[in-house]
Amino acid sequence: RTVRIIGAPMDYGANRRGVDMGPSAIRYAGLADGLERADVEPIDDGDLSMPRAEERDPDADQPHGGNAKFLREIEGVCRRLRDRVAATRADGEFPLVLGGDHSVAIGSLTGSARDVDLGVIWFDAHADLNTPETSPTGNVHGMPLAAVLGHGAFGEMDWAPAPGLRESSVAYVGLRSIDDRERDLLQESSLTAYTMSDIDQRGVSAVVEDALAVATDGTDGVHVSLDLDWLDPKTAPGVGTPVRGGVTYREAHAALETLSRRDEADGVLRSMDVVEVNPILDEANETATLAAELTASTFGKRIL
Ligand code: ARG
Ligand code: MN
Ligand code: MN
Ligand code: MN
Repeated sequence: RTVRIIGAPMDYGANRRGVDMGPSAIRYAGLADGLERADVEPIDDGDLSMPRAEERDPDADQPHGGNAKFLREIEGVCRRLRDRVAATRADGEFPLVLGGDHSVAIGSLTGSARDVDLGVIWFDAHADLNTPETSPTGNVHGMPLAAVLGHGAFGEMDWAPAPGLRESSVAYVGLRSIDDRERDLLQESSLTAYTMSDIDQRGVSAVVEDALAVATDGTDGVHVSLDLDWLDPKTAPGVGTPVRGGVTYREAHAALETLSRRDEADGVLRSMDVVEVNPILDEANETATLAAELTASTFGKRIL
């Protein structure tokens, strides 16, 4: 199997500069070696080019009644990323997108969902379901799921909603930080949300099995979105929006190995993004190293 690595060094959607260095840090941490040891063939496409944030006006072209900083720049990048991901799938390869902040998922998801019904497993402390109208920060990394599902102002933007994605095919794993108006959106939706408390009670492997059942029911394949702030900040300190009480190192590996075992049986995974690694906030690249290791686990790297 060929995995095409696509760097998306985007930081327009986050509140801290530095997450644009994520792709470089994850590569330096040994991503390609880890993938080879998982018996996949990595091909590195390099990075998408990004206009420098300092040269742009974050408040240009804001949607009516909402705030979504750098929306124009995010649109430009996500359109290019979408086409790259869709072309990679069309060539029979697996797109692995390295962020960048979580707004890159708008590009990965719209690309992976082209012409198919897509399921999604979203490993994150956050629900990322704010709209430009509900967001307390205006940071688009807190909005990618609302964007691809066409909520709020995103419904009027032709590049944001992913046609082949139904709410009922999306499962969160590990939630623990949700804004008030975001919680209302989540409760009105048909999204499936497994919180940290579900993991405490049932164990991470059982929860991921359930998430897989949600994401594979009636779909052609699953996109995995891995936000490194899903892990506990003691284990993954290099993220811009840490929330304590996240999964441990072992739980994270167990979760992704559960995906990998299922994928070995029926090839259910179609695309993945690994986001929010911020080397400026990291300690000796340990969060990037974790990102590389967890990715290798997803593709089947085992201890023995
Ligand atoms: N809910 C907060 C917001 O909307 C934080 C989102 C953090 N998202 C992330 N991908 N790290 O700003
Ligand atoms: Mn997050
Ligand atoms: Mn996120
Ligand atoms: Mn962040």
